[in-house]
Amino acid sequence: MSIFLNHRIFKTVSKVSSQMGVKAYVVGGYVRDSLLNRPSVDIDIVVIGSGIDLATRVAEHLDSSIQVKVFKNFGTAMFRFLGDKNWEVEFVGARKESYRLDSRKPIVEDGNLEEDQKRRDFTINALAYSLNKEDYGTLLDPFNGLEDLKLKCIRTPLDPEITYSDDPLRMMRAIRFASQLDFHIESISFEAIQKNAYRIKIVSKERIVDELNKIILSQKPSTGFKLLDESGLLKYIFPQLLELKGAEIKNGIGHKDNFYHTLEVLDNLADNSNDLWLRWAAILHDIAKPATKRFVDGQGWTFHGHEFKGAKMVPKIFSTLKLPMNEKMRFVQKMVLLHLRPIVLSQEVVTDSAVRRLLFDAGDDIDDLMTLCEADITSKNEMKVQRFLNNFKLVRQKLIDIEEKDRVRNWQPPVSGELIMETFGIEPSRVVGQIKEAIRNAILDGDISNEYQEAYQFMIQKGIELGLTQVK
Ligand code: CTP
Repeated sequence: MSIFLNHRIFKTVSKVSSQMGVKAYVVGGYVRDSLLNRPSVDIDIVVIGSGIDLATRVAEHLDSSIQVKVFKNFGTAMFRFLGDKNWEVEFVGARKESYRLDSRKPIVEDGNLEEDQKRRDFTINALAYSLNKEDYGTLLDPFNGLEDLKLKCIRTPLDPEITYSDDPLRMMRAIRFASQLDFHIESISFEAIQKNAYRIKIVSKERIVDELNKIILSQKPSTGFKLLDESGLLKYIFPQLLELKGAEIKNGIGHKDNFYHTLEVLDNLADNSNDLWLRWAAILHDIAKPATKRFVDGQGWTFHGHEFKGAKMVPKIFSTLKLPMNEKMRFVQKMVLLHLRPIVLSQEVVTDSAVRRLLFDAGDDIDDLMTLCEADITSKNEMKVQRFLNNFKLVRQKLIDIEEKDRVRNWQPPVSGELIMETFGIEPSRVVGQIKEAIRNAILDGDISNEYQEAYQFMIQKGIELGLTQVK
């Protein structure tokens, strides 16, 4: 028996369901993940009877203070159990369902366990463990999910046309699991996805982006993106990314295919960062290349200003995909905007002032920016990659040295606007901003040090230059 079934939650479900005279099973993702030895904290319980009644009674037994959330319309109930882990336990009565073509809302009737298993998305997600006294811990696997786990195969319990048509989000889930678990999708299933890809349009953006984010967070996200492309789903869910595809040739000069380059950057980054938003920055760093592409005689292909235009495109893309329009979006924007800066630094003789300016602009996100830029080096020439990476090491060291000396990473002006106004007896005006900016530039350029005395002297001198008189 799976050791994961020794937990008190399962024992309690077993005891209470037996008292109530109903059968209960743990099913779906928890069973799949425990067989893959990556147990999760989300438990789905199927009851041949009322999920709501069982949830209420189990919660009382576990801890009388647990709040049970009931979703009457769906016949489901769930609660959180804060024990050794932060468990989330959901209960549902076994159902047989069929879906209408134009909607995700199912027509539901009571069913037995096998009817419930067969309406699930994949054989590996249709596995169940009995929680009943007589056969506690027995694996119930009518669709050979265990074998598919071993074969690393994504297969639907029913004809894939039916399974995907019941809920088109499952097309994305197939690709998500393939990418997340490094499984392959059975060919008739993949063909059904290609045929039905357009039906993803009836699924809400929120559910789509949830799956997309899980693809992005997988160990090798390019696997998922290539499948999204080959299946035809990508053009419905994220067409801007497809515009990066292809390499034009003019006068015998080509440029790299920015779609595959972007995926390579994303994979490189995934080796060094688990941060979803930095991964989004990798996806979007070259998004404006198609819009800024020019062929210049004597120079070849250029993409001037793609970092500025790309940063401007981020809010629209985030809003269309229903990604958050908050500091996460602003972080991605900033990364896209700054993504060329460290590369430029690593190619030139690095001046202190260029490093100071980069520290000033990137602030606390400087390490993430460096990680992104290192991932952006995708040359086929190993020597070239090594040379770049070595230069980056020098840039990183220089960033540390300068920050230690000048502290510009979270820069606060050593002289305030109030002091400027008091010193020259002036009201808030443009000239105050001019002086502040001049002080900042002088510090970043290394003309004065980043401290009060020198900044104060500089302020006096600048004010007089601008025709002001010191009154204090
Ligand atoms: N399920 C399904 N069709 C869907 C979504 C879910 O059949 N569109 C079923 C599957 O049996 C799945 C279970 O409901 O295992 C739970 O779904 P969910 O919690 O969304 O996913 P998990 O499989 O648990 O995977 P993960 O926790 O990684 O999201």
